[in-house]
Amino acid sequence: MSKDNTPIHGIWTSRWVFILAAAGSAIGLGNIWKFPYMTGANGGGAFVMVYLVCIACVGMPIMIAEVMLGRRGGMSPVNSMRKLARENGVSSRWTGVGALGALSGFLLLSFYTVIGGWTLFYVWEMASGALHQASASEVQGVFDGIMANPWLVLAGHTMFMVMTMVVIGRGVVRGIEASVRILMPLLFLLLLVLFGYALTSDGFGAALRYLFAVDVSRLTGMSVLAAVGHAFFTLSIGLGAIMAYGAYMPRNTVDGKGVRKPVSIGSTVLTVGVLDTVVALMAGMVIFPVVFANGLAPSEGPGLLFVTLPLAFAEVPLGALFGSLFFILVVCAAWTSSISIAEPPVAWLVEKGFSRPQAAVLVGLLAWTLGIGSALSFNVLSDYTLFGKTFFGLVDFVTINIMLPVGGLLIAIFAGWVMKETHVRKELAMKRFGVYLVWRAVLRVVVPLALGTVFVFSLWQGLKPAAAPESPTVPVEVPAADQGAESVPPGKL
Ligand code: PHE
Repeated sequence: MSKDNTPIHGIWTSRWVFILAAAGSAIGLGNIWKFPYMTGANGGGAFVMVYLVCIACVGMPIMIAEVMLGRRGGMSPVNSMRKLARENGVSSRWTGVGALGALSGFLLLSFYTVIGGWTLFYVWEMASGALHQASASEVQGVFDGIMANPWLVLAGHTMFMVMTMVVIGRGVVRGIEASVRILMPLLFLLLLVLFGYALTSDGFGAALRYLFAVDVSRLTGMSVLAAVGHAFFTLSIGLGAIMAYGAYMPRNTVDGKGVRKPVSIGSTVLTVGVLDTVVALMAGMVIFPVVFANGLAPSEGPGLLFVTLPLAFAEVPLGALFGSLFFILVVCAAWTSSISIAEPPVAWLVEKGFSRPQAAVLVGLLAWTLGIGSALSFNVLSDYTLFGKTFFGLVDFVTINIMLPVGGLLIAIFAGWVMKETHVRKELAMKRFGVYLVWRAVLRVVVPLALGTVFVFSLWQGLKPAAAPESPTVPVEVPAADQGAESVPPGKL
C-alpha cells in the first residue's frame, strides 16, 4: 500500500467496476463450456439444483471471505497474507496461501489459454461459413484437424496468451478496468441476442424441462461432488484471483446525493455470484435448444461446445452469424477470466520491483512455455501419460482438484478461525449482524466439511487408474478436454 492507503496497483473507479471485473473473472469457460456439458453428462435438472445449492452454501461464503482478505491486505495475495498473518499474530507460513494461489494461477493460466486458443479458431470457422451445412463427420473432422495439428494449437495458445498479457501489462485501471468495461457489456449483449434467438427455437421447451425438471433418481454421489467442485471453479475461488481483485476494491462509494457510504462486501459479492449463475443458466438455455431442435444428444460431453453446437448451427437459418456471435461471446468470457488468473503472480512481481509490462511478459513467457506441454498433449504427446493422464490432464487435475480446494479451505479457515473478529466485521461492512453470524458459521463448519469431502473423493478418483469410459457421469472436475485427451478416442470427443 502507498502512504495514502491506496493499493500500489491502483483502485477500481467504482463498486460497479469491481463487480464487472469479478464477474469477468468468474464468467468464463466454466460457464459456457463446462457447465452445459456437465449438466448434460450428469443428468440435467437434479445436477443443476445441487449446483445452485453449492454456489449458495459453499461458493459464496468463500468468495466473500476471499474478497475480504484481499481488501484488508490491499496487495497481491502473497503480500496481503503476509500482512494479515502479522496483524493477527500468527505464523508467517500463512503467506503460503498467497504463494499457493500465485502458483495455481500460473499453472491454470498455462492451459486455460490453450483452450482459449481453440475458441479463437471457432470464431473464424463459424464466420468463414466453412461449417455451413456441414455433416456430423465434417464438423468432427474440423475439431480433430485443429487438435491434431500442433502448430495450430500452439498458435491459438500463443495468441490467447498475448491477448491476456497486453491487457495485464497496461495495469489495473488502464488495462483490466478498461477491458472489462467493454468486454462485459458486450458479453451480456451477445448473450441476450442469443437468448432471444434460442427462445424462438423449437427446442426451447425441451431445454427448459431438461435444465429445471428435477429427477432426483438421476443424482449420483459422483454428480453431487462434481457440482461442489464446479461451484468452486466457476466462482474463481481458491486461487487468489478474487483476492487480488478485492485488493483494488474501494472502501467507500459516493451515492447520487454526494453522501459517502461504505461498500459492503457481502452484497457486492452476491451480485457477482448471481451474475455468474445467471450466465451459466442462460448459456444452458442457449445451447440445449439448438441441441434438442436438431435431435442431438445433450450428454455429448466436452465436445458439446466444439462439435455438437457447430453442427447444430450448421443446420439453422443464419447459423453462421449466430454461431460466430456465440464464439465471440466465449472468447470475451475466457479472456476476462485468463486476465484474472494471471493477476496474482503479476501483482506479486510488481511488488518485487518489476514494472507491470515486465511482470506481464515474464509470467506470460513462463506460463506459455509450460503451456506448450498442454498444447502438445492433444497431438504429439498424447501417448505420454502419468497416472493415466496426459501432461495437460495432470496439470489440470492438480490445479483444479487439489490446489483450488486446498486454497479455498485455507482461506475459509483463516477468515473464519484465525482473523480477529473486529477486523473481519469492520472490513465486511455487513449491515445485518444475523447474516454475519450465519456466514461465519458456514465458513467455520460447512465449508471445511464440504471441501474436505470433495478433496478426498476427487483425489481418490483422480489417482484411480482411468475410470470406466462407459460411465455417463463426468468425474469430479476432471476437465473436459482432459477426458477428451485420455478416455475418449480423439474421434469421439
Ligand atoms: N471462473 C473461471 C471460469 O469459469 C475460471 C477461473 C478459475 C478464473 C479460477 C479465475 C480463477 O472459467
